Amino acid sequence: MRLARTAPSGRVVLSRAAGTIDLDWIPRPWGDDLVAELEVARDRPPEPLSARATERALRDAWGVKPTQELDELDLEPVAVTPTAQVHRGLLDGEAVAVKLLRPGIAASVRQDLALLDGLVSPLGAAFPALDPAKLIREIRERIGDELDLEHEAHHLRRFHRALRSHPFLTVPAPVTRLSHENVLVSTWIDGVPIGGAADPDVAAARLLAFVIGAARFGVIHADPDPNDVLVLPDGRLAILDFGAVRTVVPERVAGAQRALEGFAGGDAAALGAALAELGALPESEASTVIELGRHALGDLVGPGPARLDTPAVIAARDRLLERPEELLRLALAGSLAPEDLWPARSVLQLFATIARVGASGDWLALARAALENGWAI
Ligand SMILES: Nc1ncnc2c1ncn2[C@@H]1O[C@H](COP(=O)(O)OP(=O)(O)O)[C@@H](O)[C@H]1O
Ligand SMILES: [Mg+2]
Repeated sequence: MRLARTAPSGRVVLSRAAGTIDLDWIPRPWGDDLVAELEVARDRPPEPLSARATERALRDAWGVKPTQELDELDLEPVAVTPTAQVHRGLLDGEAVAVKLLRPGIAASVRQDLALLDGLVSPLGAAFPALDPAKLIREIRERIGDELDLEHEAHHLRRFHRALRSHPFLTVPAPVTRLSHENVLVSTWIDGVPIGGAADPDVAAARLLAFVIGAARFGVIHADPDPNDVLVLPDGRLAILDFGAVRTVVPERVAGAQRALEGFAGGDAAALGAALAELGALPESEASTVIELGRHALGDLVGPGPARLDTPAVIAARDRLLERPEELLRLALAGSLAPEDLWPARSVLQLFATIARVGASGDWLALARAALENGWAI
């Protein structure tokens, strides 16, 4: 908390975190300080750049006045986030989204990320099975990627190509000519954020298919924020914001699938073997994972559909906290390989987004199908 409060970009982290979860999910009074901090971050929305500063930043990126590249540009941003702002423009008669990184943010965050090294020894002391130095290096690298819009444009193009003729998933196409490390131009998507979906159950199932199915594509989207998931008038789901992505290797995806199948089938031997192979937990803990997981998650892991919303998250949390000894034992024995950090973030944010929207589904069955089939339906 001290780090987050003192480093300028710590505010960015707090305000992103405040936008990801419902603060009611945090257990009290344990989380009082955290909630107070997140409330401040949530209630202080980021300031937009002035129109002049926006024009200047675009001119710096493109080397010419923005109106020489675009037919039109609305200098009033449609969205202002902690690290960027987005404008609507027109290019060759088509609506485009112009995402502009806050000037100076990349350098200042990169500098602040060095402060994370101060967490290596306390984290190592608290969680003996973790390799905190490697995890922190992974965080620094991935956040570095997130602040490079050329990197985002590259991945956006890959996802766009892969989903070009998908029946219910779509992503905007980047405009390569105008992409720059501080600016990303993509086709404008007209849709309703998933929180306003006419059929939240279908939208949530489609989002799950996108996020978990991406493991089979080999690149995961780690930040399925509710603002970045839009339902189009024809019912398709559009996903935006490819800043937080990571490649995943097929062997680990297969390991994760064996672990999920072991959990679903209540097969401690299979789950244990998969967890040990992934380096996540010793084999001997698998039966605790199955038992504690089923106890905490209850009907959220089937059989059949269950509603995932804030009351369900709070109830699951409280059932988990009823068993502090086992929870602590798993936390102390558990490890997380650096390459699994962004995939874990992806799954957590997926279910956080679904819970904030509130939807019913057979979540375990949907996850198993998506991990098996990818985006093919
Ligand atoms: N192609 C697009 N079409 C329509 N709206 C967009 C598009 N790209 C971004 N936006 C809007 O801008 C917001 C912020 O963009 P995003 O890429 O998520 O920025 P950040 O990485 O800072 O979160 C999105 O939540 C969405 O409302
Ligand atoms: Mg976003």
